[in-house]
Amino acid sequence: MAIPEIVYYVFGLVLCAFFALWKWNDLKYRRKGLPPGTMGLPFIGETSLFLKGPDFMKLRRSMYGNIFKTHALGSPMIVCMDPEINRYLLLNEAKIGLTLAYPDSIKNIIGVNMAQVNSTVHKRVRGTLLSLIGPAAHRDHLVPKLDRCMRSFLHNWAGKTIDIQQKARQMAFMGSLEQIVENEPNSFYESFEDLFVKMSLGSMSPLIKIPGTKYYQGLKARTKVNALLEELFAKRKASSVTHDDFLEQLIRNSDSNYNSTEEIIEQIITIIYAGYDSISSTAMMFVKYLHDNPRALQAIREEHFALQQNKRPEELINWNDYKKMSFTRAVIFETLRLASIVNGLARRTTSDLELNGFIIPKGWKIYLYKREIGLDPFLYQEPLTFNPWRWLEKGVESHNYNLLYGTGGRECPGKELSISRFCLFLHHFVTKYRWEEVQGNELLLYPRVIAPKGLHIRVSDY
Ligand code: HEM
Repeated sequence: MAIPEIVYYVFGLVLCAFFALWKWNDLKYRRKGLPPGTMGLPFIGETSLFLKGPDFMKLRRSMYGNIFKTHALGSPMIVCMDPEINRYLLLNEAKIGLTLAYPDSIKNIIGVNMAQVNSTVHKRVRGTLLSLIGPAAHRDHLVPKLDRCMRSFLHNWAGKTIDIQQKARQMAFMGSLEQIVENEPNSFYESFEDLFVKMSLGSMSPLIKIPGTKYYQGLKARTKVNALLEELFAKRKASSVTHDDFLEQLIRNSDSNYNSTEEIIEQIITIIYAGYDSISSTAMMFVKYLHDNPRALQAIREEHFALQQNKRPEELINWNDYKKMSFTRAVIFETLRLASIVNGLARRTTSDLELNGFIIPKGWKIYLYKREIGLDPFLYQEPLTFNPWRWLEKGVESHNYNLLYGTGGRECPGKELSISRFCLFLHHFVTKYRWEEVQGNELLLYPRVIAPKGLHIRVSDY
């Protein structure tokens, strides 16, 4: 055979192989009734494009509309960007057979109770969480308690240059831990923080269980946290001293066999884990947005000075004061809209699901992408402008398509806790201090809201 002929054959074979690889997933996942879209390469699908986030989503929406198929993160997936359909799915998820699709790294390190499909376990764990941190607990006793913590946290910042990202993380972590376990020696809080950071990193890492990997370190840290907390439970149970913290309430519940020790440990970790990034990055961002928008800063100051006028300086903020902070809530919602910390919510079908004329096969993921909803010019005029007033025009909570805290049976149980922390932080921060941003801060809004080198501000007395 002449050499050029071989070259043709080889070239032809390579081309066929390439074509087969390119079409493999499309053929493998071909079903009647699926939405449009492409499935990418075998095994990896379109993961690298998917991870680009907003650019990929916008491009696909322009090509296929609000519902399209893809293959990413190891699974065939339907992406849904329609606000009404997303809301419908969340409100009816149990009825239509959707389950959570948390990554295994989170389930193995943080826990499985909140991810339970079994609605009895989920309802019980959720109920306990809500009794600790829901609206009723805030109305009854949490608001003044949080106010006391926030006063001491924000004490003595004037004259300093601080990294507000680092301070906000401290507020998120220590604020939660001290609410859960009060009056322990510093060594306890420090050990816990160190282990928590390892767990947090491990929960976001690939499932490679070999010494040295972040996932492995996360699992080890979880075992140590269990030991630390079990020791604390034993100490508490053996002592007659009572405490005014979440742990005391959880142990009291467990006496009636309501929650096992393992369940209590998971709840403690869940409260800290779920609130850490969400609280710290949102707090950093509203400090930034208020700094850049003097009119909004002026309006929020007026709201808080008006509140202070009716109170003695040492008098703590109570539920009624907190309920009056409507502009502050608008600032928080506007911050969450612009700097979305939850880009989308992942679910999995447990049976074939009919959706908007399509059939989604059993076992596929549905990614309810919500990031662009907040930036949609048809829903929000001038969507890139920080404009808290937009939340007052229609009532702060009436944007039912925004899904900032989710909705339905899995709506965020930490909503009240996060809003109350933000409100109390802002109450003291804007009435006590002015701040100037130091030049050179860099901010990333995707995939996480983060200032890679910190967000530095110079603080002075107001
Ligand atoms: C700015 C702050 C926060 C935001 C924007 C936020 C957002 C959300 C969203 C969108 C969901 C729905 C997830 C889904 O449907 O898959 C959720 C669920 C959840 N959040 Fe939050 N969250 C925040 C703070 C907190 C805090 C402070 C806690 C502390 C307890 C918390 C605990 C949880 C838990 C346990 C769930 C799962 C609920 C369930 O499956 O029933 N969150 N959050």
